[in-house]
Amino acid sequence: MKEFKDLSKINYSVTRFIDKIYNPIILEFGVQLGSSTKYFLDICKKKNGKLYSVDVNDFSKLFDDINWKFIRARDDDFDYILKNIPSQVDIIYLDTIHTAKHVKKIFNYYYPYLKKNGYFIIDDISWLPYLKKNEFDNFYCEINNKETFDNLLNIFDKNSKNFEITFFFKDTGTAVIEKLNNNELSNDQKIRTREFSIKNFFRKLVKKL
Ligand SMILES: C[S@@+](CC[C@H](N)C(=O)[O-])C[C@H]1O[C@@H](n2cnc3c(N)ncnc32)[C@H](O)[C@@H]1O
Repeated sequence: MKEFKDLSKINYSVTRFIDKIYNPIILEFGVQLGSSTKYFLDICKKKNGKLYSVDVNDFSKLFDDINWKFIRARDDDFDYILKNIPSQVDIIYLDTIHTAKHVKKIFNYYYPYLKKNGYFIIDDISWLPYLKKNEFDNFYCEINNKETFDNLLNIFDKNSKNFEITFFFKDTGTAVIEKLNNNELSNDQKIRTREFSIKNFFRKLVKKL
């Protein structure tokens, strides 16, 4: 029997949200080992839903199931993917390229195709396991995941009435975004924190005295 990677992270962060949805239509980006695919497929089988999984590589033979459709494409091959999925979906799961720029592009593009009260789930948003001397010690992943996290906060800052966001830091982290209405997203801007202001410099100085 095929071995799937440990799904405790996805179980922990995602199950509580998905449990609320009946007949879920799920769009998954990134199949590879098929661990998340199996997880979502099991849900679809139980709840009479349908899973659409997208990957640049051919994983079409991984499952033979009426509740599953495999689409071989890049996640940013927008026209092709839209032709192969329903016009609105309940859940989008992103686990392909984890650069902050790519995540933002995919999130902005597919967000309108998410139903109200649907969830956009983004894998790998925690930089903590990648810090120097931590379990996965990796400079690139540390910086990148921190950028993804910051980018999501920048988007949320300008859209807090449009969606709610929950971050989970178990393992390499997950962000779960719940769409609250059908409004268009407002353009994000870098959050202007006062952390590095002169005022804060003096506040810290006074605290030290
Ligand atoms: C981290 S793995 C996915 C792991 C999978 N979710 C699991 O639980 O086993 C990333 C996958 O994304 C695919 N991929 C990378 N870039 C992609 C892109 N731009 N569009 C679609 N798939 C892509 C890779 O082929 C690989 O299978």
